[in-house]
Amino acid sequence: MEKNIKFPVIDLSKLNGEERDQTMALIDDACQNWGFFELLNHGIPYDLMDNIEKMTKEHYKKFMERKFKEMLRSKGLDILETEVEDIDWESTFYLHHLPQSNLYNIPDMSDEYRTAMKDLGKRLENLAEELLDLLCENLGLEKGYLKKVFHGTKGPTFGTKVSNYPSCPKPEMIKGLRAHTDAGGLILLFQDDKVSGLQLLKDGDWVDVPPLKHSIVINLGDQLEVITNGKYKSIMHRVVTQKEGNRMSIASFYNPGSDAEISPATSLVDKDSKYPSFVFDDYMKLYAGLKFQPKEPRFEAMKNGAAAADLNPVAAVETF
Ligand code: OGA
Ligand code: NI
Repeated sequence: MEKNIKFPVIDLSKLNGEERDQTMALIDDACQNWGFFELLNHGIPYDLMDNIEKMTKEHYKKFMERKFKEMLRSKGLDILETEVEDIDWESTFYLHHLPQSNLYNIPDMSDEYRTAMKDLGKRLENLAEELLDLLCENLGLEKGYLKKVFHGTKGPTFGTKVSNYPSCPKPEMIKGLRAHTDAGGLILLFQDDKVSGLQLLKDGDWVDVPPLKHSIVINLGDQLEVITNGKYKSIMHRVVTQKEGNRMSIASFYNPGSDAEISPATSLVDKDSKYPSFVFDDYMKLYAGLKFQPKEPRFEAMKNGAAAADLNPVAAVETF
């Protein structure tokens, strides 16, 4: 429990004052030792967040709940007699922002919900780019380095996964989302302000990422571990189900463009790097079937150019 207290919470407004150095050091420590941190005063308007939380919950009730319950029945999950290890207890839909938006092709969204999601997406994109430059500063990389790497020839990939984790009668039998590291770059998560569930693996223990009203949780994906040559880490995390309460989460993924060339930054490599160099899309093809497995064999496979089939991938999942 003591570990929860230390979970890094960073007040971004302090970057503009005399506590700038300490704040930068906190970010660096979080990137090295947690792979996660929670941001306050990040500049995203609170009324926008409140509105989106409300509309996401309404949207679930109105358009998603029935489908979720049908899914439970069709997969035999309405009776949880034994532990389920290959399905997640979640209801999701995906919005793509960059390189191309699909926001107007998604069914069942009100105009107000769409407009608010577009606004949030743009603000999170800006926040992600601001954070990438803070990471550059901490890493001794020139300003714009990470943004440029992520750009490829078509700009970054940016998308949002909207999830609800409905209450579950037997939380010990199934996870909301099985343990994984995220494949991409920087993940910005707007999570339920009351119902918890997200946990990260820290020194062998699962630690809660506490709900904190109006905060944005940031975590680092596999690409940032590769580019920083392991100085920063992508960390295993999962969502546990709860007996009470429906947990909402809106996870936005700021990732490299499909043809971006990823490799450890030369200034962060001493001799040989243990990390591979590759084109981002090739990594995603491998990841799609191996999301719920450790990242190390993925890095190894990219290094050896091994076929994804060698790692015995399970069914592909839609993912960013
Ligand atoms: C993810 C993820 C956490 C959450 O979608 O990759 O880790 O709280 N989501 O929804
Ligand atoms: Ni994740």
